[in-house]
Amino acid sequence: MHLPNKNKETFALTTPLYYVNGLPHIGSAYTTIAADAIARFKRLLGKSVLLVTGTDEHGQKIQRTAESLGRSPQAHCDEIAAGFAALWQQMDIEYDRFSRTTDPRHAAIVKEFFQRVWDAGDIYLGQQQGWYCVSCEEFKEERELLEGHRCPIHIKETEWRDEQNYFFRLSRYQTQLETLYQEQPDFIQPARSRNEVLSFVNQGVQDFSISRVNLDWGFPVPVDPHHTLYVWFDALLGYVTALLEPGCEPTLENALSKWWPINLHLIGKDILRFHAVYWPAMLMSAGLPLPGQVFGHGFLTKDGQKMGKSLGNTLDPVELVNQYGADAVRYYFLKEIEFGKDGDFNETRFINILNADLANDLGNLLNRTMNLAWKYCDGQVPSCSTEDFSFDHPLKAIGLELGEQAKHLYEALAFNQACEAILDLVRASNKYIDTQAPWKLYKQENQQEGNQVLYAVLESVRLAAYLLSPVIPNLASEIYRQLGFVIDFNDKAQISIEAPFTTQATWGILSNKQKLGEPRPIFRRIE
Ligand code: MSP
Repeated sequence: MHLPNKNKETFALTTPLYYVNGLPHIGSAYTTIAADAIARFKRLLGKSVLLVTGTDEHGQKIQRTAESLGRSPQAHCDEIAAGFAALWQQMDIEYDRFSRTTDPRHAAIVKEFFQRVWDAGDIYLGQQQGWYCVSCEEFKEERELLEGHRCPIHIKETEWRDEQNYFFRLSRYQTQLETLYQEQPDFIQPARSRNEVLSFVNQGVQDFSISRVNLDWGFPVPVDPHHTLYVWFDALLGYVTALLEPGCEPTLENALSKWWPINLHLIGKDILRFHAVYWPAMLMSAGLPLPGQVFGHGFLTKDGQKMGKSLGNTLDPVELVNQYGADAVRYYFLKEIEFGKDGDFNETRFINILNADLANDLGNLLNRTMNLAWKYCDGQVPSCSTEDFSFDHPLKAIGLELGEQAKHLYEALAFNQACEAILDLVRASNKYIDTQAPWKLYKQENQQEGNQVLYAVLESVRLAAYLLSPVIPNLASEIYRQLGFVIDFNDKAQISIEAPFTTQATWGILSNKQKLGEPRPIFRRIE
């Protein structure tokens, strides 16, 4: 099979393919918001980006959920998958492919992949005995279980299984996996996730079963249709099926020709083992190149407590977005939580942050500056020469450095630090306008100095909006509109051409006398 070299101009990333046993919860929304922000940032850099999300629709858990609701599994999957797609739209998630494991093309990809692994001699029939967690769709090792053979993640009883299964010869890849982690230290990030995987692999990896009996909802094992393929074996390949161009024949070669290998798999820490151990070994067995990185982020809690249906403290992303808007929810999760660590949702804190950062610091600053520009500059960008700003001008000095700084932080997925650095410019602008009091300058008929102050503030707000656009695309677009641009940060095709990082992520580009838009408060204070 001919596969191209990794192309530096493209960037492919994935969220997990979410189980359709229920509607999206805030954990699924969290990964997807982060993935979307990364995709948006890469697009600003002019990269050709492919963001894959989707749903994982096979397996016992889903079959049981559908049965309990009295529906066919497919009808159930269709409904829930549509619910995910609708939420992503509401949250302004600009995904490029929505991969569903019940997509008929996926069957062909799974079959071809299975055959490669079979031909490599890595699949055999064996006896599986052990404790199975249906919620994880995974056999657990005895030492991992809580008292009463309960799953440590779901706190639910596991089921004893004793059956013949097909196994994947993971043990054969022990050395290759160790070499991978050593030679590509960035393969698993952040450090906590990497350490967890290293300690798991260092104990010696064991073959794992890749088929189930007594399960209908899934693909038959190609070499033995009495067995159904294990949901994780099928689900991980959903990332590959997603890469097929619409209408083309579903072959591995076609799927892998443009976007493979995926640059980044973004996941929560509970599914690390599948992505950072099983998946690379499966790809090694099939003779395919490996993804660039697996990033395992932390878990969200609510008011300091683990979220769960049994605790009755789940947070519904649909309700949250309906009440506060997509930008607010996106901003809170990316600004408040250090990506990689666990983080908390607390409504008071949520409201305080939005009021402080978006309503006050950013929103009020724009609004009062715009009103001054309409009053004293005829609704135009205040006229002044950018050369009049010395290099140590308090806003220019920050602005000239900020683009590179934000780039570095976004690339490191340090969203909270990126937001913080950008907000520093906004806060400095507030301080600057207060001390310079341009309204007084205008009253004293000192138009030139008044213009200089207003220009510096408007330009700083523009730069902040540009750099925050991966996080708050709607507010950024509204700020740009008020500044007289016709740039919509939700329009993928437009931004890399009309708002590339190289021209926008610097300070001093607002054109003198550009006609400003009508001033409007961009974010209302939440009471
Ligand atoms: N179907 C598998 C993924 C297959 S990928 C080929 C799956 N689905 S899931 O719907 O159960 O979980 C999806 C993601 O949501 C996981 O990355 C998981 O870590 C994340 N989260 C679930 N609860 C979470 C929190 N409370 N907080 C943050 N993320 C959490 O696993």
